[in-house]
Amino acid sequence: MIESNSSEEGKKSEKWEDRDLSHFVYTSGEDLFDIHTHFSEWSKESKPGGYDLYEAYGKSSPKTEMDVVAQLKSYPKLINLASYNYLGLSYRTEVIEAAKEALNKYGLGAAGSPYLSGMLEIHRLLEKKLAAIKGTDDAILFPTGYSANIGAISALANPGDVILIDTLAHASIVDGAILSRAKTVFFRHNDPKNLAQKLLRNEGRKLVIVEGVYSMDGDIAPLLDIVEVCKENNARLMVDEAHSAFIFGEQGRGIVEHFGVEEEVDIHLGTLSKSMGGMGGYVAGSQKLIDYLRPYSRSQLFSCALSPPVVGGLLKALEIFEKEPELRIRLWENVHFMQEELRNYNVDIGESQSQVIPVMIKDDVKIFTIAKELMEKGVFLNPICYPAVKRHKSRFRISISAAHSQEKLKTAAEVIAKVLRQHGVLS
Ligand SMILES: Cc1ncc(COP(=O)(O)O)c(C=O)c1O
Repeated sequence: MIESNSSEEGKKSEKWEDRDLSHFVYTSGEDLFDIHTHFSEWSKESKPGGYDLYEAYGKSSPKTEMDVVAQLKSYPKLINLASYNYLGLSYRTEVIEAAKEALNKYGLGAAGSPYLSGMLEIHRLLEKKLAAIKGTDDAILFPTGYSANIGAISALANPGDVILIDTLAHASIVDGAILSRAKTVFFRHNDPKNLAQKLLRNEGRKLVIVEGVYSMDGDIAPLLDIVEVCKENNARLMVDEAHSAFIFGEQGRGIVEHFGVEEEVDIHLGTLSKSMGGMGGYVAGSQKLIDYLRPYSRSQLFSCALSPPVVGGLLKALEIFEKEPELRIRLWENVHFMQEELRNYNVDIGESQSQVIPVMIKDDVKIFTIAKELMEKGVFLNPICYPAVKRHKSRFRISISAAHSQEKLKTAAEVIAKVLRQHGVLS
């Protein structure tokens, strides 16, 4: 990491506009707050491409068409390719009504940690429902997917243990490993052979963590081989299904169902903020595992239980997910349609195998100018740069929804290709 230089001279000797968020992580100044000062000078003077991520916000619900304001300019009715909502459930009338009912019955908050007074009947119903869908003994809810990862990983691994993580795993997995103080080893992305080598090279009790669908690339884990390698090396396996649960598999039970390895995976983790359009995280697994996680997952134990209207809405969202398998069918049709449209324009969408479709730009400044122009032309996409991906690997991330119409997807693909061509990203 390049240090932020505290002296005026040092500051001038660097090209201010060539800096990005990676330059403001450490400071060499006397005062801890030196870094804030430098960051705010930089962010005021040098907005990459004239765009400020934190000055863009939505003015309507995250439907497939969305009103957005960016730097005080309104962009009404953009084609929204930026929100998770993979099954279009967050704004379904039945879901909103169920959330209202829970709000009327229980009020806004659970007003307690699940360990104390915060566990309401609907929280337990939601845990049971998740366990039934995942085919496990039980499940435990967390306030978010992020807190599920940090809570579960730090509860299960300790100093002396080894956690092996795919290099492209989400920040919450990495943060969970840091919090556990176990030895953390990264293996090459989707490379079971490299994983096997690292398992052999490291002594201790081992936990391997992969994602079902990788959140910034949309490719899937080679789970059959990973399961095999874990078995051969006596390692426990955790799969984060944030982007694959409720989408993959015949019944939508996730990537573990897709590969037929439900029984071989020890820890099934997921979030309710993506396909379910709500918020909250969960871990599903054996009764012993869940019983242990309750008192030892500090991010759950020492945090307020999920808000009742969210839980009420989620119970309805899960009911719709079960009753309407056509949502998943439509989603997959849309995924294949959009991938083909973009590939026909030669847009680089990496190795996407899912509803997460990257549009590779690999220019950490130009991407912001392109983002603004996409909005001007009616398409909403977020620039994704460091720290969400490595520097010079910037991209847009398309999130496909079952609710998108193919007509709008076609228009969006055309606009994307046109703008990328204008900026020399496409020949
Ligand atoms: C793989 C993965 N795990 C966990 C999370 C965190 O989930 P949440 O946003 O619900 O906290 C995300 C969110 O982007 C993710 O992509």
